[in-house]
Amino acid sequence: MNEIQYGKVYLVGAGPGDPDLLTVKAQRLLSECDALIYDSLIPQEFLNLVSDSCICHFVGKRRGHHSTPQLKINELLLEMAKKHSCLVRLKGGDPFLFGRGAEEGSYLTKHGVPVEVVPGVTSGIAVPAYFGIPVTHRLAGSSVTFVTGHEGIDKLRPNVNWRALAKASDGLVIYMGVHNLELIVSELIAGGLDPYTSAAVIQQGTIVGQRLIKTSLEQLSLTVRQRKYLSPSIVIIGSVVDYQVESCAPQPGAVTMPIQF
Ligand SMILES: C[S@@+](CC[C@H](N)C(=O)[O-])C[C@H]1O[C@@H](n2cnc3c(N)ncnc32)[C@H](O)[C@@H]1O
Repeated sequence: MNEIQYGKVYLVGAGPGDPDLLTVKAQRLLSECDALIYDSLIPQEFLNLVSDSCICHFVGKRRGHHSTPQLKINELLLEMAKKHSCLVRLKGGDPFLFGRGAEEGSYLTKHGVPVEVVPGVTSGIAVPAYFGIPVTHRLAGSSVTFVTGHEGIDKLRPNVNWRALAKASDGLVIYMGVHNLELIVSELIAGGLDPYTSAAVIQQGTIVGQRLIKTSLEQLSLTVRQRKYLSPSIVIIGSVVDYQVESCAPQPGAVTMPIQF
C-alpha cells in the first residue's frame, strides 16, 4: 500500500497588520514556503515576502462576499499538503485566538499531516498598545477577558453571557464587537457595569489610518455609530483605559495596500 507523503503545514500568526510585528520565524517561513494560504487582514507587504514560485491562495472574506466555508479551507489545506513540502497557513493576529487555527490543525493531524503552530502578536493586545493603552494595570484590577462580540448562527457554543461578564472581569477586550455594540453595552449595563466605566475602540490598529475613540460605556455605541467605525476594530472596556500612556504616539506601520475588510 502506498502511504501518502504530506508536506508540513505551518499555522502562522501574522500579527495585527504592521509588518514590523511579524515574528522572525513567520518572516523566515514566508520566504521559504512553496505554498501559502492566507486570510483577510493580511497586508500586501506580507505577500511580497514569498518567492515568485510560491503558490498563493486567498480564502478570506472580501467586502460584500461570504468567506470560504471552513470545510473547503480544510480540504484545500489537505490537498495542498500532498503537493507542497512547506505550506504556510497565514492568519491575522495569533492563529489560536479567535482564528480557527486549532480546527484546521486538528483536521490536518487527523489525516496524518505534520503541523507546527507559529504564534503571532494578537490584535487584542497590540492594537491598544500602539495607543499606549495597557490591557492590564495593577491599579485597574487583576483580570482581563478576551471575548468575541460576533457569534454566528453556526456557533456550537452558547452566546456570551455579557451580564455575567459585567461582574466577572475587571477588563474586557472585545474582538469583532463593533456590529453588536449596542446589545453588548446594554447587556453589560444590565449586568451591573457602571455606565461611566471607561471604554475605547480602535479601528485598523497598527496600520496607516488607525483611529481611536475614548468615551464612557454608555456613550460608546452612539459614538461608534456617529463616527462610522467599522471592522476590524478592537473594543476595550474597563478602567485600564484610564491608564493610557498618553505620550505614546501612534506608530502605524507602513502598509502600501489597504487590508481587505
Ligand atoms: C477573526 S478575528 C481574528 C483575531 C486574530 N486571530 C488575532 O489574534 O488578532 C478578527 C478580529 O480581530 C480584530 N482585529 C484584527 N486585526 C485588527 C486590527 N489591525 N485593528 C483592530 N482590530 C483588529 C478585529 O476585532 C477583527 O474583527
